[in-house]
This record gives sequence, C-alpha cells and structure tokens, in this order.
Amino acid sequence: MWVLGLESSCDDCSAAVVEETPAGPVLRAMAKQSQDQLHSPYGGVVPELAAREHLLQIRNVIQEALAKAELPLQKIDRIAVTQGPGLVGSLLTLFSASKALAWRENIPWVPVHHLLGHLGAARFAVPDLPFPALALLVSGGHTHLYRSEGWTHLELLQKTRDDAAGEAFDKTARMLNLGYPGGPVVDTLAQRAEQAAAAFTAPKFRDGKASWSFSGLKTAMKLRIAAEPGLAVAGPEDARVQALCRSLNETVAAWLLKPIPAIAKETAALSLIISGGVACNSELRAQAKLLAARLGLRLAIPEPRFCTDNGAMIASAGALLPPAEDPWPVNADSNLKL
Ligand code: KG4
Ligand code: ZN
Repeated sequence: MWVLGLESSCDDCSAAVVEETPAGPVLRAMAKQSQDQLHSPYGGVVPELAAREHLLQIRNVIQEALAKAELPLQKIDRIAVTQGPGLVGSLLTLFSASKALAWRENIPWVPVHHLLGHLGAARFAVPDLPFPALALLVSGGHTHLYRSEGWTHLELLQKTRDDAAGEAFDKTARMLNLGYPGGPVVDTLAQRAEQAAAAFTAPKFRDGKASWSFSGLKTAMKLRIAAEPGLAVAGPEDARVQALCRSLNETVAAWLLKPIPAIAKETAALSLIISGGVACNSELRAQAKLLAARLGLRLAIPEPRFCTDNGAMIASAGALLPPAEDPWPVNADSNLKL
C-alpha cells in the first residue's frame, strides 16, 4: 500500500511517500521545507507567518515527494494528514488541501493525531518492536511519557509540569543569540565543548515524584548568562558558550531519563520509544542507549530526519488507522485529544 503523508502542524511543511509492507513502512521519498530562516529573527514561530508560508509551500512539497517517488498521485492508495494538535492556521493549509486532493482522485483519506505520528516514526527504526512500550515524546510543545500497547495506542502516564524540554533549548539559544530553533545549534556546540560548565540543580517536588519541570532551568540559564559579562553576545566560537551548551545537553538528557527505570518496572515495559524533535539530541540518544541496555529494554529512536516533524511519520501512523468514512465534517483541531 502506498501512503502519501502530509504534515504542517507548526513550521515544517512536509510530504512523504511511504510504502507499507508486511515488514513495516519503507520511505520512498520525502520533501520538507523548513521555515527556520523566516522565524529566526523572532526567536520562535510566528503563527500567522507560518500559515502564510505553508500556503506557498504545500504545492511544492507534494509535487516534489511524488516526483522523487516517481509515482503519480493516482497510484497513491491513501492520503494521511495531521489533524492536530498544532497551530490552527498551519494545520488548516495541508488539511484542506489533502481533503480536496483525496476527493478529486477518490483516494481514502486518514486524519492523524500528531503524537501518533511521532510514535509512528519509530516504526522506521524498529518495525517489530515488542509492546507494551514506554513512549517518551519530546519536542518544542511536548514532554510527555505514555504507555503504549501498540503503534496506534498512547495512554498518558506523566507530562512536564510547565515548559517542554525543547523550549529549554530554544530559549537558551535565544538568550545566547544563536538563532532558532535552538536544539540543533546547542547540540552542535555542546559536542564541540572541551568540558561542561557547572551542572544545573534538578528540581525537587513536594510530592516526591520523579517528574519534569524545565521552567526553572530556563531561569537558571538566564541568571548564569547575566552573571558573565559579554556572554549573551559572545557567539558560537566562545568556549564558555560551548561549555554551557554541553551542560544543558547533559542536564536535559539526564532529567528526561530519570523517571524511566521506576516506571518501566511498574508498567512491565519491554521497550522504550523516544521521538519528537528533542530525540535528535546526541546526548539524549547516547544516554538512552546505555539506559535501555542496563534495563534490558528494546530501544526505538528514529533517525533524526524522522524525529522532527515530517510527512513520513504521518504516513507511517496513517497506514495503520482507518480512513474517514466521510471526510467533509472532519475538521483540523488545534487541541485535538488522543
Ligand atoms: O517535533 P518538532 O520538530 O516540532 C514540535 O512538534 O515541536 O520539535 C522541535 C523541537 C525544537 O524545540 C527544537 O529546538 C528541538 O525540537 N530539537 C532539538 C534538537 N533538534 C531539534 N533539541 C535538542 N537537540 C537537538 N539536536
Ligand atoms: Zn512534533
């Protein structure tokens, strides 16, 4: 079965052609247009600009994916598209276009929850993953841990008490004038650092639970930057900036993984999935590998191009979900629940 997967929930516009085979999903072609340069001066995504840019990009990414796959639209068996959650203006662009294409060509159409997409991305890494699994979905908007009994099932166990982990990277990069998005640049500089700066103190919670909070980390970072004259404008070549990036990498990775051993035991998990943009992080990937080996868990972290928002993950999830019987009343939903 050939699936065209479409994603435009935030600032990435992407289309992918995926073949669903008995051995799992196989990527045939993917097109992705980033808006990083457009949003970089603002240090974050500007929703109205994002939606307008998607309108200019959707035709190109769909045509590019189909051309690279050497497949006409008529050969596509199913169109899968992100329904939500996300920025409503961004969502509506590909969502509406996909409905029109599906109607014109009479192709079954599947609306997909964005987080089932991030989960589905892990199928490219380990298609025969044993369940139940723990799924840690970490991005600019999410830091959520789920229990999953299969590729289309997520049951929330815990989430961040405030900011998402990706925000810690984006805000740090903004404070250090390193551009947007912050994760990739912080991660690159962290790997160039000769040593880490002093560690950050982990938050403690009154209820004693090992949960997550990243807003205090943002403040701690702000205070550290303010305490060092010139640091905010020192730039990527500065050793102090690199050292700070390395301690941020180490801190976020350690904090994210801390609750895993106890919860894996409680839930009798056989596998650990980590997906979403922050799953690109080199330190998180390295620490997760060690942890999974120690706990005897099968680990599934998608390749970086499948971790950040992309059309292939939506195609992978959409291949396993039922097409809508009547697409017309189905709407994009910025707060879509699982
Ligand atoms: O999944 P995603 O593309 O979009 C959302 O759904 O939010 O994730 C984007 C987030 C941004 O916060 C970005 O800074 C972060 O993922 N990110 C990273 C890395 N690459 C992207 N964070 C840490 N290390 C990275 N290498
Ligand atoms: Zn995402």
